[in-house]
Amino acid sequence: MTINDAEIIVQLTAMLGTNAVLHEDEDIGRYIRDWAGNQLGRPLAIVRPRSTEEVSQVVRFCHEHGIASVPQGGHTGLVGGALPDDVRSELVISLERMNRIRSIDPLSFTMAVDSGCVLEEAKQAAAEQSCFFPLSLGAQGSCQIGGNIATNAGGVNVLRYGMMRQLVLGLEVVLPDGRIWNGMKGLHKDNRGYNLTQLFIGSEGTLGVVTGAVLKLFPLPEQSQTALLAVPSVEAAVKLYTLARRACSDLLSAFELIPRQCMELAFEASSQLSDPLDNEYSYYVLMELAAAGPVDLTTMLEHLLERGMEEEMVLDGVLASSSAQAAQLWQIRESMVEGQLMRGKHLRTDVSVPIASIAACVAEASEAMAAISTEAIVIAYGHIGDGNLHINVLPPTDQSDAALSELFHRLEEALFEVVDRFDGSISAEHGIGRTKQAAYLVRSTDTEQQLFAGIKHVFDPQGLMSAGRILPPDQT
Ligand code: LAC
Ligand code: ZN
Repeated sequence: MTINDAEIIVQLTAMLGTNAVLHEDEDIGRYIRDWAGNQLGRPLAIVRPRSTEEVSQVVRFCHEHGIASVPQGGHTGLVGGALPDDVRSELVISLERMNRIRSIDPLSFTMAVDSGCVLEEAKQAAAEQSCFFPLSLGAQGSCQIGGNIATNAGGVNVLRYGMMRQLVLGLEVVLPDGRIWNGMKGLHKDNRGYNLTQLFIGSEGTLGVVTGAVLKLFPLPEQSQTALLAVPSVEAAVKLYTLARRACSDLLSAFELIPRQCMELAFEASSQLSDPLDNEYSYYVLMELAAAGPVDLTTMLEHLLERGMEEEMVLDGVLASSSAQAAQLWQIRESMVEGQLMRGKHLRTDVSVPIASIAACVAEASEAMAAISTEAIVIAYGHIGDGNLHINVLPPTDQSDAALSELFHRLEEALFEVVDRFDGSISAEHGIGRTKQAAYLVRSTDTEQQLFAGIKHVFDPQGLMSAGRILPPDQT
């Protein structure tokens, strides 16, 4: 039965109540632009259900009437996956009102949450029970657990605790026909056939709407040590990483590479920040050790630094002497992302290679990109312990939008060719969404695409949910 847009809004409003359905221009702004200010199409409306049952009702209604939809969390994704489409008007299903912590079980080290819980609030609730939910990323004050699941989020603690995929034990999902799949088991072992939970993680909203999750918790670290170290090269940073893991009983919880330009960007973005070291260096490592229990982290770190200096992997450094100082150092890591955004349009990438190939990859990528533009500033930073770098580019100023797009495309292609040579990935932690689709497709086999399309078809034969993300619309 066909139904027009006005009638859809009337019926959804009758179903969920007035505040639950937004469609006026002045009410929908924040749902159509993502954190970086990107925008595509105008959605049909925004629905804000309060329960799994309500999500199910909405999705069933969409299924019956052939209405396209897109689930949306905190809208902090980096590949345009949750942006309302510009081809067909989609109903945005926002999970923001489903933000309850359902339960915490500190004996089992699990917690059950609604998918609209903001990551930071979930972490805080776990901490109140002396437990730790380790996913940590810049957007944690606004991103939501459901979005973290849909995108298999990464961040700065992955080297120790894994990506979101490793941190989810069970899920509750509303399928694209409205059925509810209840997989909310808090089991650390559950080996019954296909793992549907894992299939939904990283599916980028294409297989269903995540409404609830059972998360895996860890003991809350009682002590930590944070250091910002100057290193002579990317190669030295990688060597230091290996040494740090061995010398610190594998208690390393973060190990981030920061080039000098990123320090400058951080200072630009946050005026209260200043250089923690007296001299300037080309590269820095921001590292953290964390532990619960009577472990002498200070001695461990001091020994590591002694050896690092002896072997010329460390040139200089500062150890945080308080949690406030540690927070200041982490502020540099967060603000440098802000700083890039403040510079305007820039190329954002997210690649991974084997850890042992990081230094060679950065060198080859920098060379290949410099051959295209001598004015473009290449900044390679990120998660050494995951072999995952963001090799981003700040463009020359005074370029038209069209010239910039062309330049970014060529630079990205050059980078991806280098990454291919190292058998790496063109999307390590941000997903495919829309912006990485073309690069993904040319690098995947027919067999893989057929399997992806087949999985999509099982869940969403009409191709109504998040169509055009991961695979093109005609394959979804
Ligand atoms: C980072 C995000 C952008 O690591 O992935 O800064
Ligand atoms: Zn990252």
